[in-house]
Amino acid sequence: MNAWPTISAPEIPTTRLRLRKAHDADIDGLIDLQTDPQVRAHLGGARPRDAVERYFAANGVGAVADKAGAYVIADRDSDACLGTLVLDRRAADLPGHVTEEGGELELTYLLRRRGWGAGLAFEAATGLLRAVADELPDQPVLVVTQTANERSRRLATRLGFQPVGTFEAHGAEQTLAVTELHAFA
Ligand SMILES: CC(C)(COP(=O)(O)OP(=O)(O)OC[C@H]1O[C@@H](n2cnc3c(N)ncnc32)[C@H](O)[C@@H]1OP(=O)(O)O)[C@@H](O)C(=O)NCCC(=O)NCCS
Repeated sequence: MNAWPTISAPEIPTTRLRLRKAHDADIDGLIDLQTDPQVRAHLGGARPRDAVERYFAANGVGAVADKAGAYVIADRDSDACLGTLVLDRRAADLPGHVTEEGGELELTYLLRRRGWGAGLAFEAATGLLRAVADELPDQPVLVVTQTANERSRRLATRLGFQPVGTFEAHGAEQTLAVTELHAFA
């Protein structure tokens, strides 16, 4: 048994979105998320398109959202890929924890540039965390984001995450923010 469960639901609908597994038609959207300089501004910069294309050719689109807790954010009407949302476990050997043992739930969100400013990331994250709160006991959930990533920090605050500290990683200051899962129940 997995000692650190995340969520098993294959699909989660929200008002405007569907969180689902990746399929081949997502390829352009998934490449866009890796190669757009604005999306990657606080994530180490845009990756070269040819390297990203080679990665997907070798691993398939499923590499992005096949594991438990990882979803494509799709438009509920058109099914277009708007971004990705992941609820993972933060490895104990990384900095940034609120428990002794580490392995806390950690939320990561990426929206294509055209989806920013419409509340879509908030809606997707709320839908996911509600579904997770139905499956798992109450526990901390983390967001780790570059302190300079104001949009990401604003979203975390809107979701109810409280900043609890900062640390250096990837050559930049990171902010660690936390909330309790059952705040979404
Ligand atoms: C971080 C990110 C997901 C935030 O996206 P976002 O669209 O700003 O976030 P939200 O879904 O909360 O939308 C909030 C905005 O939508 C607006 N909005 C419009 N309609 C809305 C609605 N119906 N409901 C809520 N907000 C709405 C809000 O006013 C707010 O706009 P503002 O930021 O200009 O004030 C996005 O900027 C992104 O993908 N960045 C690059 C990837 C990244 O750095 N990820 C962080 C890794 S953890």
